[in-house]
Parts: sequence; structure tokens; C-alpha cells
Amino acid sequence: MTTTTSQAGTTVLRTEYQRSVANYWNTNRKDPVNLRLGEIDGLFHHHYGIGDYDPSVLQGPAATRDERIIAELHRLETAQADLLLDHLGPISAADRLLDAGSGRGGTSIMANHRFGCAVDGVSISEYQVQFANKQAAARGVDDQVRYHFRNMLDTGFDTGSRQAIWTNETTMYVDLFPLFAEFARLLSYGGRYVCITGCYNDVTGGRSKAVSRIDEQYICNIHPRSDYFKALAANNFVPITVVDLTPHTIPYWELREQASVATGIEEAFLTAYREGSFHYLLIVADRV
Ligand SMILES: C[S@@+](CC[C@H](N)C(=O)[O-])C[C@H]1O[C@@H](n2cnc3c(N)ncnc32)[C@H](O)[C@@H]1O
Repeated sequence: MTTTTSQAGTTVLRTEYQRSVANYWNTNRKDPVNLRLGEIDGLFHHHYGIGDYDPSVLQGPAATRDERIIAELHRLETAQADLLLDHLGPISAADRLLDAGSGRGGTSIMANHRFGCAVDGVSISEYQVQFANKQAAARGVDDQVRYHFRNMLDTGFDTGSRQAIWTNETTMYVDLFPLFAEFARLLSYGGRYVCITGCYNDVTGGRSKAVSRIDEQYICNIHPRSDYFKALAANNFVPITVVDLTPHTIPYWELREQASVATGIEEAFLTAYREGSFHYLLIVADRV
């Protein structure tokens, strides 16, 4: 069952589309690629990895090969979140952060561990919110890390209350203009926004077949690269760093293709990245 309103009575899911996305994350609970990796150290990610994999994981005893691949995939996904957090700028223990589209919560836990500050995560999946709050409680950080059933387009948090906000693979579920308007409202002047996302390449033309397959699999709407910069500029965000992570994520997909936890979407990602119709981008911008 997908609930539409929060406990406070505010409407979280406003459209049929948002209800279908929430339903996907509420019901798609058992994907081993997310659960088995997270069980390694209790950091549950719903994003992809970066960096070269250790080829020795493919060698050695066959009986433990899969375990080695899974541990390596998890290491690369945690490295991705670490890279995102590296770009948040100076954060003190007194600051408040927002993880917009927080999934099962791994990146928020890592941010709290690194900076010692309060982090709020929001997701439109009630199941994920409950799951992530349990993880925070199990780690004893639930006084500082809290997950909420809220919509990132309209979070209800106080204006100017955030020093930094990030989205880790969530922007393809929303229109970027109202999203960045909400982030501009939440950030104080000079506050920072960090985004890791997949986007399609304006230069090669419209949405390729492989990109359309990814959209279909995740019920999302991958934006062109240009939309990010138009929507940032329209909302008083000035980019300071843009990194094309595409070459750094391809090894993750090559390894994942060989894992028992592969879901079948690996080929679409590899095709899209290799043909240049899709990029994996890190965008860092300051609120002015
Ligand atoms: C691919 S997962 C990424 C999760 C997390 N950022 C991570 O890195 O593990 C996408 C997330 O976006 C959330 N999401 C999608 N649309 C949303 C919206 N309008 N408001 C809040 N969360 C949303 C989903 O519920 C899901 O948690």
C-alpha cells in the first residue's frame, strides 16, 4: 500500500507519477544487489560505484568468487558516496545537511560520521524511510540522522536552514526547475549543492535507445546535461566543479555484469556510456 499523506497530514505524493515511483521503491524491496551489498557493513546504497576494481576478485576459489565481487561492488559504491561528500565544502558539527531522495540512507550515515552534524534524509518511499531510520537507530545516531517521508520538491524544512544539500542519483525523478528552487530556499547564502547523476548527452542528440531502457527500468526521466545548468542558473546556483565520472563508473558496471546479483540492466548502462549518449556527472554549485 502506498500512502499519500505524511503523519502530519501534508500531501507528500501529489501526482500519479509520484505515486508510481513511491510504489516502485516500496515494493522493490528484495533486490539482492542492494541488500547483500549493504549487509556487509550496514551502509545501504541505492547508487552506483566509481573507481577501478581489483581484478583479483575474479580469481581465486570459485566458491567465494561471488562474495568477493559483492564486497568489491560495495567498496566502489561507498567510494562514490565519499567522493560526493568530499565536495560539500567545510561543514561543522553545528551545520544541518539535507540528503534529498535518501533511499535506504547510506550516504546520510556516512555524512554524519564524517562531519558529526545533523542530517535529514527525505524519500517518497515510506518503506525506505522506516528502513533507514532503523539503521540510524542500530548505529546509535538516530538523534542526529533522521529520515522523513517527504517530497524533495516541497520539503517543509525551514528557509535557510541548510549549509549543504546533495542528491545522489535522484534528480531524474523530478523537474529540475522546481527542485532547485526548493534547494535555493533551503540553503543559506554561500551554501552548497552537490549532485551525482546520469544525464543524456545533448551533443549526440536526443534520448538514445539505451537511455530509454534505463528510464523504463527505473520509471524515471533522465534529463539532458543542458537542463542541469539551465535550472541551476535560473535558481541562483553557480557551478564551481563539474566532473565527468563516466570513465570512472564503467569498471563498476563491467564487474557488476559478472556478479550473481546482476539485474540485467548492466548492458544498457554499458552501451549508453560507451557510445557516449549518457554521462555520469558530478556537479557542485554554490548558492548566491
Ligand atoms: C536511486 S534511489 C537513490 C537513493 C540514495 N540517494 C542513494 O544514493 O542511495 C532514488 C531515491 O529517490 C527518491 N525519490 C524519488 N522522487 C522523490 C521525490 N519527489 N521526493 C523525495 N524522494 C524522491 C526515491 O524514493 C529513492 O529513495
